Amino acid sequence: MKYIVTSALPYANGKLHVGHVAGAYLPADIFVRYLRLKGEDVIYICGTDEHGTPISISADKEGVQPIDVVNRYHDSIKAAFDGIGIEFDNFSGTARPEHYELAQEFFSDLYANSHIVAKTTMQFYCQHDARYLPDRYVEGICPKCDSPGARGDQCDKCGQTYETTLLKSPKCKICGNEPQIRETKHWFIQLAHFTDQLKAWIAQKDYWKENVRNLMLNLLEQGLIERSITRDLSWGVPVPLPDTEGKVLYVWFEAPIGYISSTVEWAKKMGKPELWKDYWLDPDTRLIHFIGKDNIIFHALIWPAVLMGQNTPYCLPHDIPANEFMNLEGEKISTSLNWAIWVDEFVQDFDGEYLRYYLAANAPERQDADFNFKDFQLKINGELNNVLGNLGHRVFSFAALNFASIIEQVSLDEAAQAVLTQADSTMAEIASSYEDYQVKRNTRLIMDMARSGNRYFEEQKPWLNIKTDREKVKQTLWVCAALLQRISVALSPILPKHMKALRQMMSLPDLLSWDDAFVQRDFRLGEFKPLLSKIEDEAIQAQLDKLHAKAKNKPQKTYEPVKEQITFEQFSALDLRLAKVLEAAPVPKTDKLLHLKVDLGFEQRELVAGIAQTYKAEELIGKTVTMLVNLEPRKIRGILSNGMILAAHDEDGLHVVLSDGGSPGAPVQ
Ligand code: 2FM
Ligand code: ZN
Repeated sequence: MKYIVTSALPYANGKLHVGHVAGAYLPADIFVRYLRLKGEDVIYICGTDEHGTPISISADKEGVQPIDVVNRYHDSIKAAFDGIGIEFDNFSGTARPEHYELAQEFFSDLYANSHIVAKTTMQFYCQHDARYLPDRYVEGICPKCDSPGARGDQCDKCGQTYETTLLKSPKCKICGNEPQIRETKHWFIQLAHFTDQLKAWIAQKDYWKENVRNLMLNLLEQGLIERSITRDLSWGVPVPLPDTEGKVLYVWFEAPIGYISSTVEWAKKMGKPELWKDYWLDPDTRLIHFIGKDNIIFHALIWPAVLMGQNTPYCLPHDIPANEFMNLEGEKISTSLNWAIWVDEFVQDFDGEYLRYYLAANAPERQDADFNFKDFQLKINGELNNVLGNLGHRVFSFAALNFASIIEQVSLDEAAQAVLTQADSTMAEIASSYEDYQVKRNTRLIMDMARSGNRYFEEQKPWLNIKTDREKVKQTLWVCAALLQRISVALSPILPKHMKALRQMMSLPDLLSWDDAFVQRDFRLGEFKPLLSKIEDEAIQAQLDKLHAKAKNKPQKTYEPVKEQITFEQFSALDLRLAKVLEAAPVPKTDKLLHLKVDLGFEQRELVAGIAQTYKAEELIGKTVTMLVNLEPRKIRGILSNGMILAAHDEDGLHVVLSDGGSPGAPVQ
């Protein structure tokens, strides 16, 4: 089986932080290392994403060329990957000639196959700077959620998209002036052409992670809309059509093509320029894209459609394991506020494999995770050091003291056999978890294996037996060494450097395959060097101090002023009750409103609540909410709304006030 494993191409516009690593890079690197142990034919491909408005805006600000920004960050990102042992077969970049050529071919194929339509559209234009303002070149207030800092056609805060012309109070990002709206021609990919093909393709993907598959099914259900794949910019891949001066391909159209152009570059470097075809043109190749959840639509919908529209028969993604996000000390990571742990700085203070272990043990696989320094210390000290380090230390020192560090194979009694049988079934679980990208589970299983060794050692009491039954002690040590041998393989995708060191200490040959875990042998142990030294409290405090000192304007919470005082009578005038939601459905042609039917015990009522952006209708059914029942009824969108559901609102949106008990109709006071 051939595999192409990719990680999302990082923008060459900033340094690498732990959030990036946890989502798209470490899980892929671990997966690739595991596949190699299984003898699979795999290439791991990446590179920097070198176009897009953030890069040209940075260049404008610094008064340099975009390529200067790109080169600087390409090198810094690559060095950070090296620092934590993320090893790509090729790490390219999308501003290279091979990529331009291939990206243009992609556009031309789609165009020739009539999947691209040109249209005149409205776009912000700054008269002062005499240029169009695509994407991040314009900022304003979101027409959907009223947040500031919204972009031309999309708001990062609420995640919604809108017509450019609807953005409120638009400002040019370069000069701050209010831009005009002008006509401009752009090219749109007709995604709907691929609906049937995409549906048939996704139907076979029942093994995908739920978040990815559900999003896809939803989008296909809603019907696919055309997407603009060009921009008015000078930095980017030129549109390969006549009279298109100043137009480039949209960064998200051409970036994934970088997976292929990087493979082409790899093949050239290997001295076999055609080699990339063995991977990309084989329909059975398993193409696996590791990404963060914000990249799902581009990889699971648009990219496959783009591939389907090519004349060259590229393979399609086999799987798209998308991870959730990593927060930092309870807050969202923010590069602009410098609320981040930068990999290059981290590896100056700690061994890079500390980070690998912590991010693996705390991987944001099914839900967002949190990087917490105290927890980091606890995991390294409590698991790697105490559990695994302890097992190694006692086996090595006992063997040195009593058997000149040589532990020959012996026949095993029932208890010994049971420990190994258990370990082998754990090894099988670990293998299947790696195949299923469940790295977090594996750190737990591996630690369990080490714990079982410690338990066995204690039960066997070799320090007593050594006087009476040396054979038995040898057996105890051999079983524990056999566990360490298994761990040196099972943990190697996560901690390659340290497991290599462990194997050297045990005089085991270089690790070549998963089966090396199970080789029966006499063990010749060397000197045991502590695997990973403990992290002291001071080191953690220093990190926390550094983090807080560097963070700029850590988001300050603002609170509404307290309203004017009221009397108890005024409060008593509000009739608040518990209400059970019986039915809920979106109000047609709105995106904020839900039509609810609730049970108040003494009667049932209907009302309209503006909570659809936070809650799906089905989420609310059966929930007990708090409701103001003596509010004057109001007609909303033709529905008589008789009452109001209480909800809190903060920067994350709305939170309906739910009751943790109580029967419908019960007064709330
Ligand atoms: O979100 C990002 O960081 C993008 N640069 C990822 C691109 S992935 C691929 F399409 F190239
Ligand atoms: Zn301007």
